[in-house]
Amino acid sequence: MSKAYVEPAPADSTTVFKNDIFKGKVLFCTGGGSGICKAMTEAVMKHGANATIVGRKLDRLQASANELAAATGRQCLAAQADVRNPKQLQDAVAKTIEKFGRIDFVICGAAGNFLAPIAKLSENGFKTVIEIDTIGTYNTIKATLPHLRASKGSYIHVSATLHYRGTPYQVHVSAAKAAVDATSAVLAVEEGPNGIRSNIIAPGPIAGTEGMDRLSSKGPDGNSNYTMHLPLGRLGDVKDIANATVFLFSPAARYITGQVLAVDGGAEHLRTLQ
Ligand code: HXC
Repeated sequence: MSKAYVEPAPADSTTVFKNDIFKGKVLFCTGGGSGICKAMTEAVMKHGANATIVGRKLDRLQASANELAAATGRQCLAAQADVRNPKQLQDAVAKTIEKFGRIDFVICGAAGNFLAPIAKLSENGFKTVIEIDTIGTYNTIKATLPHLRASKGSYIHVSATLHYRGTPYQVHVSAAKAAVDATSAVLAVEEGPNGIRSNIIAPGPIAGTEGMDRLSSKGPDGNSNYTMHLPLGRLGDVKDIANATVFLFSPAARYITGQVLAVDGGAEHLRTLQ
């Protein structure tokens, strides 16, 4: 392959989009205490929204909420819930309504992952990831939908690209994310008439994330030359996902629903000559 184009530095969303486009809006984000979803939340807050972040570990969640509020000047509520538990999610939604009065945007981001071949993956291991990723997404939609109907709001589900082909050691996540993609498409067509949009962001290889750490360095097929083969010549940055988030929630995307936006530097389209 010829020498790749390498972008000098990741753009911050505030250099690209107007600062106050989400003023008065409220985000509800599962998995928002860390990684990609925390960066997505920060970007939405930087553009004026208040937010609730949802996760299992309250101490870590509260520390992240404090950081997000300090970094953005907006309010951030930490609400403890396991997305596998509908009642806990309903309570998190109730706390959000009590504090902020509305929900406009939802990010379904809570996920679980580890590497395991089918032959060694236990039934409970498979089921656990389906329960977190797929049923957790369903539970989040069910808990928030009445409020999104009221606000004519928008969903973003964090999926992946690995289920487009047979990715080894990822049967649980592949099955779970394929179901998330399908769920988003159905949500888009059923709730479009109520003014609700639903889209997928499918992150590719994003530097410094738990997913990347789990899949690249510790994997049986760990490949140190990986970035050389990416069309844009580098790993993604969480800001790349944040920018896509701001766009999809913004009025500029008002006619976009039921779509999958892969933010992967072109990785999914690359097929090398044998
Ligand atoms: C094989 C494993 C395993 C491993 C857990 N299990 N880890 N099997 N290899 N490394 C099995 C356990 O043995 C058990 O089955 C079952 O899974 C449930 O495990 P628990 O630890 O009891 O479950 P829990 O505490 O709920 O933890 C859930 C988890 C955990 C998914 C296993 O890793 C987790 O919560 N992770 C959250 C954080 C995370 O993974 N974030 C990264 C997401 S990245 P048995 O049979 O023993 O009872 C991502 C990106 C994807 O999603 C795309 C990237 C490109």
